[in-house]
Amino acid sequence: MNRKISVAPMMDCTDRHDRFFLRLMSKNVMLYSEMVATKSAIHGDRKKILSYSPEEKPLALQVGGSDKAELAEVAKIAEDMGYDEININLGCPSKKVQKNMFGACLMREPDLVAECINSMVNACKIPVTAKTRIGFDDTEEFDYLNNFILRMKGVGCSTFILHARKAILTGMSPKQNLNIPKLNYGMVYKIKEENPDLEIIINGGISKIDEIKNHLTLCDGVMIGRSIYQNPYSLVEIENEIFGTKEKPTREEIAEKLLEYLEKEVKLGTKVNHIMRHTVGLYHGQIGSKEWKRYLSDNMMARDSDFQKSKHIMTIVQNNEKANQANS
Ligand SMILES: Cc1cc2nc3c(=O)[nH]c(=O)nc-3n(C[C@H](O)[C@H](O)[C@H](O)COP(=O)(O)O)c2cc1C
Repeated sequence: MNRKISVAPMMDCTDRHDRFFLRLMSKNVMLYSEMVATKSAIHGDRKKILSYSPEEKPLALQVGGSDKAELAEVAKIAEDMGYDEININLGCPSKKVQKNMFGACLMREPDLVAECINSMVNACKIPVTAKTRIGFDDTEEFDYLNNFILRMKGVGCSTFILHARKAILTGMSPKQNLNIPKLNYGMVYKIKEENPDLEIIINGGISKIDEIKNHLTLCDGVMIGRSIYQNPYSLVEIENEIFGTKEKPTREEIAEKLLEYLEKEVKLGTKVNHIMRHTVGLYHGQIGSKEWKRYLSDNMMARDSDFQKSKHIMTIVQNNEKANQANS
């Protein structure tokens, strides 16, 4: 499996529609679901929560939980549903997540985490991976992180996504904790240096191709979140520059394919805005970005937006393409 570049799991962002859209721009990146709590995966509407289109693969399911029996059950469900990987969230600092004993607070509980991963590994044959922070609260020490990772390695986890910013479990909102405190890429590089046999993926604040290339000389992979959500078309450059892909789909081609998907999904009962909301950044940094956003917000972002209105969207797309070509 190729985890050289992946799109980060992001709640309310990387749902199946967003992933389908992203896949139109990159065949090679690894995609992750939003975090799904074990109880929702087991007892919830599985079709609604876990189903996906085959085009989205390779695809990982990210799970949040700390009950080893539940985690094992979800690992098996993920495998049976064709996911390529199951990833445990050990990095979310939110109060709600802490109350339910999952996410970053589990960094304090290496024995419990090891038990959980062990039961997941024994329940399925797909890779079990972990996404964690480099530390939490006052703990940002190489030895602590390294020992935590070694505990997980001991029970069969060999891929770690390290968000290079420690989790602050009290006194800061999860949103603030996405920008504060400072990133510490050096800690991630050192983990890779110390553990050359492990697959170490670096995450946090990465967007430019040069930065990606540089990280790839020191780590096995790069995970990118917000910058791809804000500027999804940057995946085309990643595909060309990092994977050497020759094709370069235009935004017009992407919009056309997305409209075909939209039409199919609307017939199945999906709301127009549930798909189109992910496309706000399609013209990020381009001429016509404002017009695109205005069209979306006027016609396709309401709960009851009508699919018929989406037909006119190609006029905006074609105008934008012409304006940008003339400008290049
Ligand atoms: C809106 C949003 C939702 C997120 N949801 C999750 C999540 O469900 N699971 C997770 O492990 N991390 C989540 N994260 C953290 C990202 O996966 C990632 O680690 C973080 O944004 C840093 O990467 P970036 O600087 O490239 O965005 C979320 C981040 C954002 C902005």
